[in-house]
Amino acid sequence: MVPQNGCTRRGFLQATGAAVPATMLGTQVAGGAIWAPSRAKIRLAVAGGGFGAGHHWHEHPSCEITAVTDLVEERRQALVTAYRCPNVFPSLEEMLDKAADQFDAVAVFTDAPNHAKHSIMCMEGGKHVVCACPVGLTIEELKSLLEVKQRTGLVYMMHESSYYRQPCIAAREAWKEGKLGRLCFSEVEYYHSGIGTRRNSLSRWQGLNSWRFGFPPMLYPTHSLGLLVGVTGERIVQVSCVGQRVGNDFPEASENQYANPFDNEIALGITNQGNICRFAVCWNIAADGERGQWLGEKMSLWMDGSAGQPLARRGPTGGWRPWEVPNFWATDRLPETMRHNSGHGGSSAFLCAEFIDALVEQREPAIDIYESIAMTAPGIIAHQSALAGGKQLTVPQFDPA
Ligand SMILES: NC(=O)c1ccc[n+]([C@@H]2O[C@H](COP(=O)([O-])OP(=O)(O)OC[C@H]3O[C@@H](n4cnc5c(N)ncnc54)[C@H](O)[C@@H]3O)[C@@H](O)[C@H]2O)c1
Repeated sequence: MVPQNGCTRRGFLQATGAAVPATMLGTQVAGGAIWAPSRAKIRLAVAGGGFGAGHHWHEHPSCEITAVTDLVEERRQALVTAYRCPNVFPSLEEMLDKAADQFDAVAVFTDAPNHAKHSIMCMEGGKHVVCACPVGLTIEELKSLLEVKQRTGLVYMMHESSYYRQPCIAAREAWKEGKLGRLCFSEVEYYHSGIGTRRNSLSRWQGLNSWRFGFPPMLYPTHSLGLLVGVTGERIVQVSCVGQRVGNDFPEASENQYANPFDNEIALGITNQGNICRFAVCWNIAADGERGQWLGEKMSLWMDGSAGQPLARRGPTGGWRPWEVPNFWATDRLPETMRHNSGHGGSSAFLCAEFIDALVEQREPAIDIYESIAMTAPGIIAHQSALAGGKQLTVPQFDPA
């Protein structure tokens, strides 16, 4: 019943006998949780009115937004306007306390240091969760979240945009079809110049330091690792990382809440398939955006980049060729109402559709808890490695045996 990631929506519906009837919803599943309620639409609450106010769940025919919350009034209003939802609460805690019967799932788009705490709070309250990246900031948080997910059986999905960037979808499908052969070496990177610094408007907000002030780059590894885990599903098992401090505008370790000395971190990982992956996260470098290059035994693929690099591929007979990547968002992989380009390389609509589809179809989402943790944990250990001068460290594994 569970569709493969490459399966089209229409193909899935044909294979399963058209749309899922409302009577299928509300089934009891292993772990004792209710996957979805006995009604046709998933009722979603949204927490966090910054990045969280710019998504597309409400465009899905099987979703309605029934509650919104932020600690800050102007952000509450942004949510009310974006989702046309007047049912607004002053905090996630109060929303869960006073209105739990009004929603089935929560989109957690609060600050990264609170992701694990807020996701756990929602799941303990019986709600499915889609959460902004990363899953959490410590290995202990990942363990706690996994324990709650396994105990409750509720759905958890990380909203990682790299996974549904159009070239990442194409690379994933080429790899699945065996066109690349073994992925010997991948290079995946995320550059966002200025993050964490004293002058950055995301790091200092309304005269105060935000959670981004001095944020360790490798605690935000998912845009990079989404381009490895999201293509082959392999896991980083060993990592060595080096860090550097480039800009004087980046707060000293003594000034930031993370005791972090680095504004750029670059890691070298070994995967469970014996492959090599260089993953980078930099806050102070003259470059932008997310980019992957996948060098396989039979074929290699290069994503386009902010410096004008073209999409390119090299096949077994050698020679560079343009790599044609379709606009998957314009196809029947999405419900008709969502077939438009969306934020972060066309990924946003896919992420929203995948979460709602997973709940309606009573299955785990493509970026389930194990994939989410596999994109997060190596960065946590990489940062520890950088603090230890580049020592190679073992990355704990969370997959079921
Ligand atoms: N490409 C991407 O995937 C992408 C892009 C931008 C941001 N993000 C992630 O999305 C998340 C949100 O980003 P942002 O830029 O909006 O961050 P932000 O810090 O500006 O906003 C977080 C919001 O959460 C609210 N909040 C915190 N605790 C709350 C609570 N208990 N109840 C209700 N509201 C609460 C805050 O008031 C704030 O408005 C971050 O974790 C970030 O890492 C991902």
